[in-house]
Amino acid sequence: MMTNNPFEISGKSSIITGAAMGIGFGIARRFVEAGVNVLLTDIHQQALESAVSRLSQGPGKVAALQVDISRDDAGDRMVEKCVAEFGSLDILVNNAGIFPTVPMLEMEPALFDKVIAVNLKGLAYASKAAAAQMIKQGRGGRIINIASIDSIHPSMVGLAAYDASKGGVAMFNKSFALEVAPHNILVNAIAPGAITTEGTAGPTQEDRTQVMDEFLERIPLGRAGEPDDIAKVAVFLASSAADYITGEMIVVDGGRLLK
Ligand SMILES: NC(=O)c1ccc[n+]([C@@H]2O[C@H](COP(=O)([O-])OP(=O)(O)OC[C@H]3O[C@@H](n4cnc5c(N)ncnc54)[C@H](O)[C@@H]3O)[C@@H](O)[C@H]2O)c1
Repeated sequence: MMTNNPFEISGKSSIITGAAMGIGFGIARRFVEAGVNVLLTDIHQQALESAVSRLSQGPGKVAALQVDISRDDAGDRMVEKCVAEFGSLDILVNNAGIFPTVPMLEMEPALFDKVIAVNLKGLAYASKAAAAQMIKQGRGGRIINIASIDSIHPSMVGLAAYDASKGGVAMFNKSFALEVAPHNILVNAIAPGAITTEGTAGPTQEDRTQVMDEFLERIPLGRAGEPDDIAKVAVFLASSAADYITGEMIVVDGGRLLK
């Protein structure tokens, strides 16, 4: 039978990593508004509490868990908490990420390891834990990986470690999609361009203006992206409208890669 609205996702339960601010919070807000229960997870406890209080109006329910995604037990802890709060897990959004700007010629091994541990290993093991739960439930699921246009093309000098991690996300996305397809778990990525978030804001207004001017010149649609530009695509990928898409990466960059 055809459903009236292929974008309907209410009643599902989700985990979003790095959900205290930026793109992760934007996705959490869209999900909660759409009636999805959301476990917001983040390393930053205070920001997490503030995010949860801003989403408490529902209709989706919210819960929070402080977790460092780079720790080995992060995936299992998040899944356990989500199931304890909402009874099941249908959608995982792997969003937590760090983007220190350090040229490779000045890079220290500890920072390189951290970028890979947060952006790639954390995402992979959260996916493993989520997929195990989805397989146990026996009704499929969705994993949405936040990659980057840097998964495809470097955007500037200083992001070699980040670009390596996000290139890894693009390939993990395909490989894991292949592995879990028999369980009807769909794995897709979103590759954002320049999105205005807490993490991309410079320390001063002057920095912000300069960075933004440079970015805007290179964006055919003439504006920086907002977290909601990514959140709406996450809703699509979580919904029945995307039932036959897996292993894909959707670029959401205002045309940036065209230039
Ligand atoms: N903003 C952009 O222009 C842009 C572009 C391409 C890709 N992305 C990707 O989107 C994602 C979100 O970016 P953003 O701009 O919203 O960043 P942000 O810095 O504004 O927010 C990231 C969130 O992740 C959390 N976090 C950081 N390390 C963590 C850890 N170890 N464990 C758990 N949580 C952790 C932070 O506390 C924060 O709440 C990242 O994966 C980033 O690489 C962003």
